[in-house]
Amino acid sequence: MSKIAVLGSGQVGQVLADGFLKHGHEVMRASREPAKLEKWKTTAGAKAHVGSPAEAAKWGDSAVLAVKGSAAEAAIEQAGPQNLAGKLVMDATNPIADAPPQNGVLRYFTNLDESLMERLQRKAPDAHFVKVFSSVGNAFMINPKLPGGPPTMFICGNDKGAKAEVKKILDQFGWDTADMGSVEAARAIEPLCMLWCIPGLTQNSWSHAFKLLRA
Ligand SMILES: NC(=O)c1ccc[n+]([C@@H]2O[C@H](COP(=O)([O-])OP(=O)(O)OC[C@H]3O[C@@H](n4cnc5c(N)ncnc54)[C@H](OP(=O)(O)O)[C@@H]3O)[C@@H](O)[C@H]2O)c1
Repeated sequence: MSKIAVLGSGQVGQVLADGFLKHGHEVMRASREPAKLEKWKTTAGAKAHVGSPAEAAKWGDSAVLAVKGSAAEAAIEQAGPQNLAGKLVMDATNPIADAPPQNGVLRYFTNLDESLMERLQRKAPDAHFVKVFSSVGNAFMINPKLPGGPPTMFICGNDKGAKAEVKKILDQFGWDTADMGSVEAARAIEPLCMLWCIPGLTQNSWSHAFKLLRA
């Protein structure tokens, strides 16, 4: 059991917070307006807490970042890079731009030579960022049941120990883990969200996840 700070008051923050609670962890969710999470706290039980981004980041043994992509760098500032130093930060964000999708293809404010997670890692150089949960819809993040068996979560990050922690969490959450290497691999993982969303945006089909087949 560990203490997980969930920086995210949206749908992804809620699903992941509930998933960590379900698997026996203690959770503090954060918002710039913590009062809006009070209702969640009262229904989520004794191991559920609410705080400001800095309070949560300080309290947690590790953190989840689940904020709007364009606000992710600001959210790290608000949490305080010093409060995240030496800790695993599970980065679920995607760099989705404000411009509308083109024929079902989301637009990003990053490019293929620089991912959002590389920017975040520079903002908090002593935190151990691991990209995870970014390439699937929130309905399938916790113990997904799909006919083809456990889907694959693509992860990356610079710290081997942090990635080992994430692998344990993904085992609990019912996922196969594929470690793609260092932070730069986020350049390839973040666009998987674009691919994942195309059937949804073009055919209203959202019930799928990726699986890596190995020989
Ligand atoms: N939706 C999915 O199924 C899915 C799947 C995979 C990955 N993702 C990614 O997960 C992330 C969260 O998605 P979501 O749909 O749950 O939430 P969202 O609506 O994209 O973002 C809401 C969160 O962003 C924060 N935020 C917004 N503007 C901010 C600012 N200027 N400064 C600091 N924080 C700000 C909010 O904090 P306050 O409470 O302080 O306002 C809140 O925690 C996104 O990056 C998304 O691409 C989503």
